[in-house]
Amino acid sequence: MILKRLLQKLGDVIGRPRAEAPWLDMLNSGTFPMGHEEAFKYTSGQIPIPNEVLRQTVSRPDLGGFYFIGESWSLVISQLLQGLPGPHFNVLDVGCGVGKTARFLTLDPRINYIGFDIFKPAIDWANDAFSPVVGRRFQFVHFDGISKFYNPGGTIPATEYQFPAEDETVDLAFAASLFTHLYEDDMRAYLRQTARVLTPHGLALYSIKEVRGDQAQEPISGTEQSIEMTRDFFVQCAREEGLELHDPGRVICGQRAVVLRKA
Ligand SMILES: C[S@@+](CC[C@H](N)C(=O)[O-])C[C@H]1O[C@@H](n2cnc3c(N)ncnc32)[C@H](O)[C@@H]1O
Repeated sequence: MILKRLLQKLGDVIGRPRAEAPWLDMLNSGTFPMGHEEAFKYTSGQIPIPNEVLRQTVSRPDLGGFYFIGESWSLVISQLLQGLPGPHFNVLDVGCGVGKTARFLTLDPRINYIGFDIFKPAIDWANDAFSPVVGRRFQFVHFDGISKFYNPGGTIPATEYQFPAEDETVDLAFAASLFTHLYEDDMRAYLRQTARVLTPHGLALYSIKEVRGDQAQEPISGTEQSIEMTRDFFVQCAREEGLELHDPGRVICGQRAVVLRKA
């Protein structure tokens, strides 16, 4: 297990194509662009759109992809919230990036939102962009986690992180394309934290890059850039960390999204 983990980390260092993480060079040279998309003029009351480099750090840089993915996730979240007792909902966005989904969730006044991420420019940008419009109802928190890809100077292992929420206070947690970047130990720690923060009726909507069981050589494989696993393995880990399956059947923008609840 330790050897496997070491080889994975080594793979991250050696095998990382420069072109796939252009922001690392910009981060290291202090030239990372923090501005908004320049194609639009903003007035007060609007949430700006992040620039192309920021959009790229959370998947597709094109505006259509940025909006389509955020809207797709927020639609499923709205459907799940309809089945939960209100009147207000505490929502936790695990690996929130620049708030691609959060910007749609601002339209629902019942939602109190906290997002956290290890990529500091995304968190700084999101706090600046959202707070003039929605104030403290939407908060973005930086976690200084260790990551070659997203936070090269990070100091805290993800296995030691406490999600920024008290026990049993989160009605809905979601993670859009986050477990596609976590090794097994980190994934298990995040599932454990989820079991801690969910209310007894709470739900977690988490996506994975799914590989079919009959095509998988190993239940989980890849490097931090892209981790894939079987759905059975993810659900088994979730069970072992205090969660159970609520709904196995959704695909959101190409990723398998399972819904979990406290066991
Ligand atoms: C593909 S992006 C998706 C971002 C966001 N969920 C979205 O839909 O736009 C993956 C995100 O996971 C974040 N991330 C990676 N490892 C993390 C960790 N251990 N804890 C929190 N965030 C992490 C990255 O910084 C990045 O913002």
